[in-house]
Amino acid sequence: MASDKQIILITGANNGIGFDTSYALAAASPNNHILMACRNHAKGEAALKELQARKPQGTLDLLDLDVSDDDSIAAAVKKVEADFGRVDVLINNAGVVGKTPSPTRADLRTVFETNVFGPTVLTQSLLSLLQASKSPKVINVTSGLGSIGFRSDPSHDTYHVPYTSYRMSKAALNMLTACQYYEFQKFGCKVWAFCPGFVITDLTGKEERQWRKDNGADSSETSAQGILEIVEGKRDAEVGTFIARYGQQYPW
Ligand SMILES: NC(=O)c1ccc[n+]([C@@H]2O[C@H](COP(=O)([O-])OP(=O)(O)OC[C@H]3O[C@@H](n4cnc5c(N)ncnc54)[C@H](OP(=O)(O)O)[C@@H]3O)[C@@H](O)[C@H]2O)c1
Repeated sequence: MASDKQIILITGANNGIGFDTSYALAAASPNNHILMACRNHAKGEAALKELQARKPQGTLDLLDLDVSDDDSIAAAVKKVEADFGRVDVLINNAGVVGKTPSPTRADLRTVFETNVFGPTVLTQSLLSLLQASKSPKVINVTSGLGSIGFRSDPSHDTYHVPYTSYRMSKAALNMLTACQYYEFQKFGCKVWAFCPGFVITDLTGKEERQWRKDNGADSSETSAQGILEIVEGKRDAEVGTFIARYGQQYPW
């Protein structure tokens, strides 16, 4: 059905940045087919319906996928392989923050399962499908909070932000990006770490949406536009680096 189209798989697509990015990519080109990978089928169905009702020129479909569950990853990869035989763009977007201010073992495990082990295992499981693409791309949605450079700079505006488990997980995701960049060059796959900026989503709970607005957070549509620019090749010169919206480059 969509095998002649650009196959774009995005995780955590039912909400926030993943939801807005699914729409931005579908709206951008009739040649884009978006696989909205969601862990909760009902939420995924509702999100898919909402985006299809906007009638974008590209197409969208739902893919059941919990990035913290190896069986779920294996089933999703099998389905994509059978349906399309390749993936052109993988956007590792699904993410969580820890529930406790200080890192506990349980909290670290939850955060690392989703933010680090998930993208690592999913990308590895999709390797042959990325290799089957003429122009494969991997975008790891990280955070400026994962930058050791920012963490160490008392003048940076995130200096006093806590979330140690989350910061550690995004620093690990950044290292994964650097390793994937090194490894995947041999088959022409481009890789980036992308910070979507401080935006209004449910990442730290629905109750914090207003706090985010009051503290200068942007719409998550700006994050989606940033990801669209990468997919459209506008950030190709910065491949292998840590980038953000509005042409910004971040220190690792
Ligand atoms: N918002 C910001 O200011 C900000 C800043 C920097 C970086 N980021 C990053 O942006 C990404 C998207 O976050 P967001 O702000 O859009 O948050 P969000 O609104 O909470 O959305 C997170 C999405 O990830 C999904 N998800 C969580 N765990 C998953 C799992 N195990 N498997 C599959 N999907 C899973 C959620 O699904 P459910 O609905 O089922 O929970 C949801 O769809 C994250 O990686 C986050 O770290 C966000």
